[in-house]
Amino acid sequence: MTAEFPVPTMPAPPVAVVGLGQLGGSLAAALVGAGRQVSGWDVDPAARAAAESRGVQITRELSGVVVLAVPLPAMTTALDGLTVDPDATVTDLGSVKTSVLRTVGAAYGSRFVGGHPMCGTERSGHTAVDPDLFTGARWAVCLEPDTDLRRWLRVAEVALAVGAEVVPVTAAEHDAAVAAVSQVPHLLAAALAAAAGDAGPLALSLAAGSFRDGTRVAGSDPDFVTAMVEGNSGPTAAALARVQERLIRPWPELIAAGHTVAAAHTTGRTAGPTGRRALRAPLDRAALLALGRAGGVVTHRRAAFVEGWVPEG
Ligand SMILES: NC(=O)c1ccc[n+]([C@@H]2O[C@H](COP(=O)([O-])OP(=O)(O)OC[C@H]3O[C@@H](n4cnc5c(N)ncnc54)[C@H](O)[C@@H]3O)[C@@H](O)[C@H]2O)c1
Repeated sequence: MTAEFPVPTMPAPPVAVVGLGQLGGSLAAALVGAGRQVSGWDVDPAARAAAESRGVQITRELSGVVVLAVPLPAMTTALDGLTVDPDATVTDLGSVKTSVLRTVGAAYGSRFVGGHPMCGTERSGHTAVDPDLFTGARWAVCLEPDTDLRRWLRVAEVALAVGAEVVPVTAAEHDAAVAAVSQVPHLLAAALAAAAGDAGPLALSLAAGSFRDGTRVAGSDPDFVTAMVEGNSGPTAAALARVQERLIRPWPELIAAGHTVAAAHTTGRTAGPTGRRALRAPLDRAALLALGRAGGVVTHRRAAFVEGWVPEG
């Protein structure tokens, strides 16, 4: 049941991270740095050793907030053989949310809260760990009709503890949104790189900044990108169709429209408090989702409300 009343703040629970690669290892390291008690597990002994050297307790016994930071295809089996405390809250960092909600969410019911930090690089594995990865990043935390708000807050507090800003969202809305800003950019980067390859060695020898920026994510692990686009195929196809429609001439109109959106987005990200309206939102699902839909974020959790901001205008 969604709580619609003040929820008292609790002592920060321990965090257990399953999958100690780029995202999970970075989260574990950042939480250790923030003074939180952190344990974890990975099938790869090298990832376990790297995490242990950063202060993570390696164990198969998981409690508190259990974070699934494994590749999408491993989400449904990653907790097999591990002991999860019956009161633990389970969350994940997967890049798509509806499929994880359908599987892990079905297994853990109201104890599950989906999440997705909007950060990461084209690198992967424990050698790509960066404890500062989450600083200033948006972190989608899913609020479904049956989400337990107390558990949602526990997950949100993990995100806030590592410097992220929390975006309350439903899994379906998340998937539609990230199709446009994550899955399609990965497909376009791949298409750009492949088409430049078709253009031949002269074109590649002249490739510079525009090509590098447009194709950066094409360097990502192909298995990771495939799992992401295939796991969100409907919204990705719809978002890609909108891009294809945009590419039909007249190009000057496309260029002007793209410039307007990109410039406003950059200004919004760099303007700081200018252009933002600070607000307090009550601890209630409708108010939190309205904040997320307006492009706003949660920055602090207080006893009876959260603080954050929404863009002006
Ligand atoms: N890379 C990104 O940019 C990015 C951004 C946001 C979210 N994500 C999501 O985060 C998750 C992890 O991505 P990543 O980039 O950190 O991947 P990664 O490959 O860097 O790390 C994954 C880790 O999981 C471990 N692992 C695999 N199967 C396991 C299992 N069954 N049990 C325990 N450990 C297991 C691997 O050994 C590896 O250490 C994915 O679900 C991805 O969709 C990635």
